[in-house]
Amino acid sequence: MLKKNYTNIEGMLHIGGVSVEELREKYGTPLYIYDQKLIKETARAFKDNFKSEIFESEISYASKAQSNLYLLGLLSKENLYLDTVSLGEMYIAIKAGFDPKKIHLHGNNKTREELVFAIKNKIGTIIIDSYEEFLFLEEILGERDKKMDCLLRINPDVKTSTHKYIQTSNADSKFGINIRDEKTPTYIKQMADSQFINILGFHAHIGSQVMEVGFFEEEANILFEFTKKMQEITQKTFSHINLGGGFGVRQNKKDRDFDLEKFLKDFAKIIEEKIKIYGLSIKKVGIEPGRSMVNQAGSSIYSVGSVKHTLEGLPLVFVDGGMSDNIRPSLYGAKYDALIANRLDEKNYEKFRVGGKLCESGDILIGETDLPYPKRGDILAIENTGAYSSAMSSNYNKLPKPAVVFVEDGRDYLAVKKESLEDLIKNDLTYKGE
Ligand code: LLP
Repeated sequence: MLKKNYTNIEGMLHIGGVSVEELREKYGTPLYIYDQKLIKETARAFKDNFKSEIFESEISYASKAQSNLYLLGLLSKENLYLDTVSLGEMYIAIKAGFDPKKIHLHGNNKTREELVFAIKNKIGTIIIDSYEEFLFLEEILGERDKKMDCLLRINPDVKTSTHKYIQTSNADSKFGINIRDEKTPTYIKQMADSQFINILGFHAHIGSQVMEVGFFEEEANILFEFTKKMQEITQKTFSHINLGGGFGVRQNKKDRDFDLEKFLKDFAKIIEEKIKIYGLSIKKVGIEPGRSMVNQAGSSIYSVGSVKHTLEGLPLVFVDGGMSDNIRPSLYGAKYDALIANRLDEKNYEKFRVGGKLCESGDILIGETDLPYPKRGDILAIENTGAYSSAMSSNYNKLPKPAVVFVEDGRDYLAVKKESLEDLIKNDLTYKGE
């Protein structure tokens, strides 16, 4: 069964009404393809379902999942807020037209340059990650006699069952101030009294690709209870809570589904209840979806090269990209599904591995997938690659980064050009020695 946003026209995969063969001819392979309509629908699903009568909701797209001028331009038109984590992400966001007031700055080790940039550009909110960072920011603001709205990132100690590398809420996590740390109330009292920092409330993010709704409920309960306690200690009323991102997606056919719309509706209700139970005056509740905003809208296509039968293991179908355009299988053991996109009507399927072309044994994009016997020149499409693949791409083995194209209603829109060989050396200097 094809994904909902894919169509089969005479055996050829079409996305957004455009044939992938046509896209390959125009832009080459590997190629990242984004279904523009699906991104708009997803952005609207967040806004329509995560809302309440008693609090204002704030949907910030976590731009680390994928950012370029085109995508951020589109999302700013959808009236989203934006979560950034570096000078580069803030810069792209502003260039793409985001109102700086709607930009948040995160990061566990923000540099002076980043903080000064945020202050100068009137970035809306800084999420303070530690007591030490609070002192650093206070000093920088003090030098300029400026005041800034901030949230404090709390580690709520919720143990999710996701991959270790994308857990953020363990006691040894590098993010946030641990809720169980006995110094936390003293720190928060000092922050609440700051002349330069206006602590609006608290932030937490429990991890990424979290499929169990219960972990988010646990997080909400912990954070609201904590807010109540901190109000008592500081005698200050907190008005904002941000519960981060991490909402799971169905990455491959074997994964369970994550009913995003139902989850968002239920989550908003749970939050309303907690606000009432704890008697809080919370005005704004934010969430920060990254993966769940863009992953399902993205696909990667490759051209097939050789097929190799090794002495052991499934036969390997090689493609013209690999871990340089999608590091997730090698880094997190992420599992994807693939199609031979130009022969969708084939009846006989066999099991294959999909191998990249990089000089690394770990460069296996898919450990097992069913495909018709691949031929050189076929188009292999990998589904659901919209988040953290293009975003984490590299030039390893000096492969140029692929183009990024958006498609909708039979038209394609180039968002990022494929890198040229010249691009690969544009920052290199020539050896001038003997
Ligand atoms: N908010 C904060 C503070 C975060 O650190 C993150 C992700 C998000 C929101 C968005 O989380 P999402 O909704 O995308 O799960 N490279 C990894 C994922 C790392 C996520 C880092 N932080 C991967 O490819 O699975």
